[in-house]
Amino acid sequence: MLFFSVVAIQGLPDGLHPTPPMGWTSWNTFFEENSEQKMISQADAIIELGLDKVGYNILTIDDFWQLPSRDNETGRMIPDPAKFPNGILSLSNYFHDRGLQIGIYSSAGRFTCSGNLPGSLSYEATDVEMLLEYEIDYFKYDNCYPRLDGSTNIAGGGVYIDWEKSAEHLPSIWQSPSEESRYSVMAEEIAKVKDQRNISLELCAWGFGNVETFGPAMAHLWRTSPDVADNWNSLLYNIDVNDENRYRQDGVQGPNSGWNYPDGLFVGKGGMTDAEYRTMFALWCLVKSPLMLGTDMTKMTRDSEAYKIITNPWLIAVNQDQLGVQGQCLKDCCSHGSVGGVLGASGCVHFHHSWQVWGGPLEGGSFVIVVVNRFEEEKQVSMNWNLDAKIPPGLYTVEDLWSGEVVDEALSGGEDWEGGAYKAILPAHDNLAFKLTPV
Ligand code: GLA
Repeated sequence: MLFFSVVAIQGLPDGLHPTPPMGWTSWNTFFEENSEQKMISQADAIIELGLDKVGYNILTIDDFWQLPSRDNETGRMIPDPAKFPNGILSLSNYFHDRGLQIGIYSSAGRFTCSGNLPGSLSYEATDVEMLLEYEIDYFKYDNCYPRLDGSTNIAGGGVYIDWEKSAEHLPSIWQSPSEESRYSVMAEEIAKVKDQRNISLELCAWGFGNVETFGPAMAHLWRTSPDVADNWNSLLYNIDVNDENRYRQDGVQGPNSGWNYPDGLFVGKGGMTDAEYRTMFALWCLVKSPLMLGTDMTKMTRDSEAYKIITNPWLIAVNQDQLGVQGQCLKDCCSHGSVGGVLGASGCVHFHHSWQVWGGPLEGGSFVIVVVNRFEEEKQVSMNWNLDAKIPPGLYTVEDLWSGEVVDEALSGGEDWEGGAYKAILPAHDNLAFKLTPV
């Protein structure tokens, strides 16, 4: 049986995102209620809060920016004049004048996921001309309505699932026509205009069509999971799916390949507790996910916990680490099932019941470790750096990535080592984050 293809994947040679891109997206913030005025207010707020200086500089207009019909004569998509009265180029200029980048959205389908707004299937060249005309920097390309007639075989789902291929390629779902066949047409059109404009490409593939086998060759980032929602279970599900073996094969992810993306952040939006948002941010940083904010920045203040979370310099440094290796679950994992995938909340015995350890290497021989309490109550963590966190034997400084302080010097030892464990009380749904550097 084939669960993932082991292929030597060559990343895009353009070197556009040697570290995960960072920005803000209208989708998680406003859903279909986007507009020029809102985009401008968000841009102003991001600058006012200094978030562009921290790295959040790509602002993306998601779905629902366009009218239901294309222009009869030119075939072009038309921005909804009620929402974008001055058109997209004027917004683009506004962003560029302020050192920001602008992203826009379409789908590799007959419609976008809206269900009735035009997608780009069979209009790829026309739509890339539009990206050039609007001076777009970043293009999010969704996966709804893959058939030219707009048909779907899942009620209300906007997808056309190829059941046979999906069964062959578990845990990946495939559509008909395949993701690769549709995405590659757009990627080629974007590649053709490279000498005029570098456009970052996000494949919003939800992990379908084994995106890990072709994403790195044609795009800068690709969604590995379904849409994240502003709640704890959704956060856990998406980060577990993103940890499937298929996404951590050599060549799938990193500075020369591109970035696995478990979807945007919700930090500050209000559906989760501060502890849960801290955990979301720490894990997204650890797995080297693109960091796309998804909350109304005009409501954020510098003294809020959300602001402290999204500007945490030590975790952002982990996310932007030059080595670019995706950290993974190391203890009590829900993601390394027998088919190399997450089978759903009920399929994972640890889903709600364990404190986990996640970790991975950083540039210069250091390691990042994030301990997550998935229990509903506080837990006593007692961690052996070597057995639980896979830190090679040796002496390390331990830096707390929530305070930036060196809190300990720790010895990591092997099987027979009796040097004791790292102990801490960890509140429900919260995390501990550390950088260990060899002394
Ligand atoms: C899909 C995508 C989301 C968002 C919506 C817009 O669900 O996965 O990120 O773009 O479509 O309709």
